[in-house]
Amino acid sequence: TGRSPRAAAFLAAALAVCGLLASCAPEDGGVRGTPGASGLRDPYFPKLGNGGYDVGHYALDLAFDPATGRLDGTARITARATQDLSALNLDLSGLTVEGAAVDGEEAAVNRAGDELTLRPRDEVPRGAGFTVTVDYSGVPEPLTDADGSTEGWMNTSGGAVAVGEPAGSTTWFPGNHHPSDKATYEIALTVPSGLQALSNGVRVSSAAAPGGRTRTVWRSSEPMASYLATVMIGRYETTTGTALGTVPVLTAADPALAASTAPLRAELPTVLARQQDRFGPYPFGAAGAVVTTDGLLGYALETQTRPVFPAGSFDRTTLVHELAHQWFGNSVTPESWRDIWLNEGFATYAEWLYAEEYGSVPARRSFEAAFADEDNWAFPPADPPAAENLFDPPVYQRGAMVLHKLRETVGDEVFDGLLRGWAAGHRHGNASTEDFTAYAEAVAGRDLAGVWDVWLYGKDRPERP
Ligand code: ARG
Ligand code: ZN
Repeated sequence: TGRSPRAAAFLAAALAVCGLLASCAPEDGGVRGTPGASGLRDPYFPKLGNGGYDVGHYALDLAFDPATGRLDGTARITARATQDLSALNLDLSGLTVEGAAVDGEEAAVNRAGDELTLRPRDEVPRGAGFTVTVDYSGVPEPLTDADGSTEGWMNTSGGAVAVGEPAGSTTWFPGNHHPSDKATYEIALTVPSGLQALSNGVRVSSAAAPGGRTRTVWRSSEPMASYLATVMIGRYETTTGTALGTVPVLTAADPALAASTAPLRAELPTVLARQQDRFGPYPFGAAGAVVTTDGLLGYALETQTRPVFPAGSFDRTTLVHELAHQWFGNSVTPESWRDIWLNEGFATYAEWLYAEEYGSVPARRSFEAAFADEDNWAFPPADPPAAENLFDPPVYQRGAMVLHKLRETVGDEVFDGLLRGWAAGHRHGNASTEDFTAYAEAVAGRDLAGVWDVWLYGKDRPERP
């Protein structure tokens, strides 16, 4: 269709302005969109994630050679532009990018630290769906996060473990690595036959590949934040079963730990059933747990559908905690890293509830113990002072205290409905602290500033618990 006179006049004006401004004058002189932002201005990690587009799906095809530690990957990312895009960024730490394409056409690639900029030949118009393909390889390196933990892709003797919150996923695939951009995933792992290659979700196929290898494909059909993606390659003993009537369960353990961890792994369906009674429908189509001996992994993580545990932290309380995250954190995901107490406070309170119902320790007693512990009063849970504090005791314990005070204020019945309603209302989405306080007040039918001011935002320990 022809251009209207007004559009033509506008175009002429825009060209004239662009002629004066270097910032909007691309080499070829045409009128172009703007580059997507290189970060989402998260209060703790301003460069995590990228602006201008929304990822819908990641298809990762990864080949790993344990003998050399080398990873060969292709990431196919399906996204939608949220602005006219002349260029877009992906987060990737380490590794070498061999090439990239947007909608099948080779794109110019620029690398500056952990930011990868792709400039497609043609601008992607706002609202359009597009596909990015990135070929990359190298020996992945884990990263040290703000609190000193090692995370990301960790090569082990004879395999690898990839896990990391908040930013470890940037070490093994390019993407929009901020929790606010959730997507579905398909992760294909090609490794020497005889090794296990485990990941999130449901195993959809496993087939022989050239070079004595096997290619296994895992599918996560429900949206997942990138920090919850995981890969475990190596020798594992696996057990399969069913939970909640229809959900396939796969647990795995390092062979040396298989026998000692079998009883607790066998309890997983019971824990899930009890939590489903409490929190509402389990949000995912698969479940499980993996126990690894890898020395580098310093914490258990609620990796989606298949939490991972270092050998020393596979106990019932931690299992309850990581499984509770499937509702609180994985299905209802923080809008930004400032909202991390919505994960850790809820998962900790899930421990207290479990102990109350099945271990005869009243939640009030857990609350009082947490109240008495000096470590929990370093800062308010809604406002960790820095990235290195995101997983400090106040986030967990004071976060749980907020929920207990809320429960004491609104009563058990309203509180129960509130937990289920929160999980249901933001299922497979994102939510912030403000969303939660507004929601709780709506359900309670009254102002709850008295709870928030003291327990969620208050700096000091009050007189009495
Ligand atoms: N979310 C994990 C848990 O279940 C802890 C992650 C800790 N991460 C870190 N960088 N320290 O508690
Ligand atoms: Zn946790």
